[in-house]
Amino acid sequence: MSSADAVLSQFKQEVVEEKKEFTGKKIRVGIIGTGWIAESHIYSYLNQPDAQIVAAADIIPGKAEKKMEQFGVEGVRCYTSHQEMLDKEELDVVSVCTYNTQHAAPTIYALEKGIPVLLEKPFTVTLDEAVEIMKAEKKSGKIVSVGFQPRFDGNMQMIKKIVESGVLGDIYYIQTGGGRRRGIPGSTFIEKSTGGIGALGDIGCYSLDMVLNAIGYPKPLTVSGYTSDFFGTSSEYSPEEDAKRFSVDDFAAAFVRLEGGIILDFRIAWAMHVDTPGDTIIFGKKGALRIPSTDCWNGSVGGEMTLYHDICGKQTETKIPLVHTEGDLFDKKIRSFLDAAMNGGAAPVPTSQILYNQAIIDGINKSAAAGCEVKIEIPEI
Ligand SMILES: NC(=O)c1ccc[n+]([C@@H]2O[C@H](COP(=O)([O-])OP(=O)(O)OC[C@H]3O[C@@H](n4cnc5c(N)ncnc54)[C@H](O)[C@@H]3O)[C@@H](O)[C@H]2O)c1
Repeated sequence: MSSADAVLSQFKQEVVEEKKEFTGKKIRVGIIGTGWIAESHIYSYLNQPDAQIVAAADIIPGKAEKKMEQFGVEGVRCYTSHQEMLDKEELDVVSVCTYNTQHAAPTIYALEKGIPVLLEKPFTVTLDEAVEIMKAEKKSGKIVSVGFQPRFDGNMQMIKKIVESGVLGDIYYIQTGGGRRRGIPGSTFIEKSTGGIGALGDIGCYSLDMVLNAIGYPKPLTVSGYTSDFFGTSSEYSPEEDAKRFSVDDFAAAFVRLEGGIILDFRIAWAMHVDTPGDTIIFGKKGALRIPSTDCWNGSVGGEMTLYHDICGKQTETKIPLVHTEGDLFDKKIRSFLDAAMNGGAAPVPTSQILYNQAIIDGINKSAAAGCEVKIEIPEI
């Protein structure tokens, strides 16, 4: 040890890691859909000392058992139907990790049984399904939290803080989106019967949440949308088998009018002939914020942000260093959901906000099909 280390070590606090065994009644967790994303839920529930996975369901026989075995989770009762699991088990919470077209049915059934739900993103495929979930949520008095883990990223929180600080002034225009030069996920994501929507729902929902959450989720009013599938359906860019079954969008773009006179210019791609469809930029009357995109758009901030503003008449650019977030975002998503569900708190990512995210996605699909701008009509809940 150097002499400097010897001096400094006297001031070091001894860190005693106390790992206490949880002795109370554990939160009984059920998992519906034990595919890829369920793994991060299982992993994060295992990190919570007061939670225990007691039941799991997957429509593919043996899949739930295999997944539990893979994670070394013992004593889990497995089912091939979410209805049977929810009928037979006494659960405190459930995670719904099914593909998009199967988000609504298990969530509504769980709510009818009085069980709070952590529902994976995107909220649903259609606006109607989102509305049905919210009606069931209202009736049950239990929460649904939508699985947007980027919400717990310090950089995302910084975007909201910057907007709320007033340094940008009134916001009038936002360009957002992202994408991958090549990055079509395959699997259950690319068929209408399972994914329901493509890049638009899979990664588009993140771009929308990034900016809409920052500006307080104003209501969307109209949308002119476009979707295409040139890469997904082409065997030049996709494996032959995937190209044959590809039946969703791989690119979407839209011009959306939001309440308060704000314009949202949006584009998202699973595949394209360019590295990015552009950074996210929030235009305000006093300043603008550029948020760099990433190669593999998944809702994270791609580098230090730049604030463009005038200081005493001088055009100035301020760099905002990346914020390091302590801990795992999935652990935070699970923990915040458990705390809210068990203590009667508000959902960390509430459906009342994500309804507008879904309304835009739904509007883009409707407008793309109609070939013209459409009005976004959100039914009373
Ligand atoms: N938050 C994230 O970072 C993130 C990342 C990837 C995927 N997702 C979301 O998670 C969801 C699932 O994606 P995935 O990659 O795990 O898909 P997946 O196809 O690997 O898994 C879905 C599983 O659900 C099962 N299933 C379908 N309907 C069911 C039902 N009614 N009852 C029980 N099981 C049912 C399927 O058999 C399958 O095993 C999607 O909505 C996706 O958008 C979120």
